[in-house]
Amino acid sequence: MAILSFSMPTEIHLGNGALDILPSLCGQRVLVVADPAMTQLGFTERVCALAQQAGAATTVFDAIEPDPSQELCAAGVELAEDFALDTIIGVGGGSTLDVTKTMRAACETPAVTVAELMAAGFSPPPRQTGQISCIAIPSTSGTGSEVSRGAVITDSSAGAPVKRVLFTGAPDAAIIDPAFPATMPPHVAADTGYDALAHAVESYASAETHRLTQALASDAIATVLAQLPASVQEFGNTPARYAMHVAATMAGATMRAGLGLCHALSHQITPAFGISHGRANALLLPHIVAYNAGVAGDSYSELAARLGIGGSNPVAALVGTLAELRTRAGMPASLREAGVTKEQLTQALPQMVANGSRDPNVASNPRQPTPEDIEALYWDAWEDRRAEV
Ligand SMILES: [Fe+2]
Repeated sequence: MAILSFSMPTEIHLGNGALDILPSLCGQRVLVVADPAMTQLGFTERVCALAQQAGAATTVFDAIEPDPSQELCAAGVELAEDFALDTIIGVGGGSTLDVTKTMRAACETPAVTVAELMAAGFSPPPRQTGQISCIAIPSTSGTGSEVSRGAVITDSSAGAPVKRVLFTGAPDAAIIDPAFPATMPPHVAADTGYDALAHAVESYASAETHRLTQALASDAIATVLAQLPASVQEFGNTPARYAMHVAATMAGATMRAGLGLCHALSHQITPAFGISHGRANALLLPHIVAYNAGVAGDSYSELAARLGIGGSNPVAALVGTLAELRTRAGMPASLREAGVTKEQLTQALPQMVANGSRDPNVASNPRQPTPEDIEALYWDAWEDRRAEV
């Protein structure tokens, strides 16, 4: 039997008012990385004020864009090094938290540039832990970046943009405060919430899965299935949004067991068609589960049983439940419905198949795909054509 390891280095603080713990976590030189929206909504200022309560000097880098580039990270690192930070706080969605973690990794290894971290493939940089404290405050409920060890950064150095997965180390602390996701627009709540579902479903049946992550995953999946539609419709600090916020962090922790083909292929959809990460996962996930079912059927049957999904073919029912959730959350059911034409997919497909095959998430998928399999899965997602399970 293989030896499996699980650690959760991130200290998690959760609940209404959890942000108030921030002064006790801050050093004396605090850099706040934020989405512009967080600044407009007053959250950046509130975070700075709490750090200042602890006697810290603060500065802000709030130029984060979706699908952040290595150039953006490098600009942040330059600012951070000039400021001589001892604490970095990310406030925002997954892009902001990924930039925050990348900046921390680069600042802790000054001999290595962001470009070199990107080029280093998938090897972790030589991190000197404890130098810079990293605190993540998610404002969306899905990416799990607040507890994960990786960051997804876009590399445009070779022409067409490619998403690369960097191993940056997990934040030291995460603050899961429902005041932050309360402000999410409905489509962001839907897309990021489905991303959390994809993390948990993929990790549940991954090649490196184990009981500890499966327990977190099955609870997170049950919560998303029950709460996602309400959290999309109910804007504000509601029980459904809080439940989703906690479930997203749980699902994020399961990524330690690896993800799979859904993420490998969705990483190609976002740069090709501008479809958000969570929505791209939603368009793929039912098809990936159906594809994997031949080798991971036992895992999916067990998951279906845990979720109370029964019938004569529980795996097919699970696939149907995952597909229906998209409609219940107001999302498109196919790439075509999401606005991608047949011609656009045909043109982009060779590069998507090549890059998808090389994505590191393929390694932990329970079934190893051929390029032909990947091509067929993209067409399945284009017209929501579900394979027999
Ligand atoms: Fe994801």
